[in-house]
Amino acid sequence: MAKTIIVSNRLPVSLRHKNGKFEFKPSAGGLATGLGSIYKEGENIWIGWPGNDVEDPEQRAEIIIELHELKMAPVFLTKEDIEQFYEGFSNETLWPAFHYFTQNINYDENHWEAYVRVNQKFCDAIIKKASPEDTIWVHDYQLLLLPQMLRERLPGATIAFFQHIPFPSYEVVRMLPWRQEILSGMCGADLIGFHTYDDMRHFLSAVGRIMGLSNESGYIQAENRLINVDSFPMGIDYDKFANSAKSKNTQRIAKKFLGQLDDQKLLLSIDRLDYSKGIPQRIKAFDRFLEENPEYHEKVSMIMIVVPSRAKVKSYMELKEEIDTLVGRINSDYSTLNWLPIHYFYRSFPFEELSAFYAMSDIALVTPLRDGMNLVCKEFVASKVDMKGTLILSEMAGASKELQDAILVNPNDNKGVAEAIKYAITMDEKEQKLRITSMQETIQRYDIFQWVKVFMDRLDHVKQKQLDLQSK
Ligand code: G6P
Repeated sequence: MAKTIIVSNRLPVSLRHKNGKFEFKPSAGGLATGLGSIYKEGENIWIGWPGNDVEDPEQRAEIIIELHELKMAPVFLTKEDIEQFYEGFSNETLWPAFHYFTQNINYDENHWEAYVRVNQKFCDAIIKKASPEDTIWVHDYQLLLLPQMLRERLPGATIAFFQHIPFPSYEVVRMLPWRQEILSGMCGADLIGFHTYDDMRHFLSAVGRIMGLSNESGYIQAENRLINVDSFPMGIDYDKFANSAKSKNTQRIAKKFLGQLDDQKLLLSIDRLDYSKGIPQRIKAFDRFLEENPEYHEKVSMIMIVVPSRAKVKSYMELKEEIDTLVGRINSDYSTLNWLPIHYFYRSFPFEELSAFYAMSDIALVTPLRDGMNLVCKEFVASKVDMKGTLILSEMAGASKELQDAILVNPNDNKGVAEAIKYAITMDEKEQKLRITSMQETIQRYDIFQWVKVFMDRLDHVKQKQLDLQSK
């Protein structure tokens, strides 16, 4: 029977070394939740990197067995792969390029070769498990070459690709010496999905100009195959966040947290440590707000959670320094004995505590300089079960296309963001409710499960269309 294989760079669990042994920590991420309903069914499986290096063959064998029980199969990366493929080409070349940080791009041929080699490694691991009639759904920018590699080995398979980060304008794509290979790699898929219409448009334009392939309403006629390209904005597990916000446990945690603070308006900021998230710009806007509105001193504070990420990549280390300095300066400029303007946490929190932060905060400041979608803003809105709260959202986040009832800001506009903070703080409850209600409707309707279903239905449709064309 045909099965579905999910492929992503990271598995939905990550391997941790502990006292010479290893253990698996499940990921609570949206993708793992949404695809759980697929990969746990029948013979289906999820293939990816377990997130750490394991050299010992015996340990590898044990890991394979344990993951097999969880319906997963590992692709082991060596230290060199991690440096050159993961930190190197994926996160020093593609990540900055696709987020328009062209000054951060590292053009390194060795890294490119490692990228090809590791994509091939993934392909080999999949081929060991796949049959010609299977469906293979590949995720994200670490594996752009994989659809075409798979197509060559399994010409009749159903192959889909979804990109979770932005796809930039042709002007950026053409800066990459490997642009042709990257686009051909993606075009091995039958269906290529992006979060937004603009990402899709940029991809189609790059394919047209670089590969000479035109499209008609998102359908590209490649040599011998029809490829569909479209936007599928990803959602969250709405009920999980809404139910958690209502739960006694979350309310207890929120009450405990609030008890440790004086009565204040709370701004919430949660991101992975990443330069695309605009964290320094956000802090500077808050600084300006405090400077221009002294009447709010001791009445507003920001809870800023920065989750460690890609800590070996230089630009990430530099960003950490910059944030530490900025927070230190603002706190030392303004704090009083009973008020800290920024409560800064450089770590991750368990789900229940995160949920409490969402539920108890008055305003979420989600101001990335560029973001494929951004799920934090959706999680915040879903957690506002009392219909009170305001979202300040960057126009540069994919989610802004759906969440038009947020206060939309340009994250580079220091004055505009500072004003938005003031507007949010003074917004009356009636307006808060109107905005939250409308955003909740959108997020609830198009949740992560609906996202998976719509994508998979489209994939069936494209396959059928291909068959119809062949039989003509
Ligand atoms: C983004 C990417 C994912 C990636 C995640 C965490 O959301 O789209 O592919 O897994 O960041 O980054 P990391 O480098 O830790 O996998």
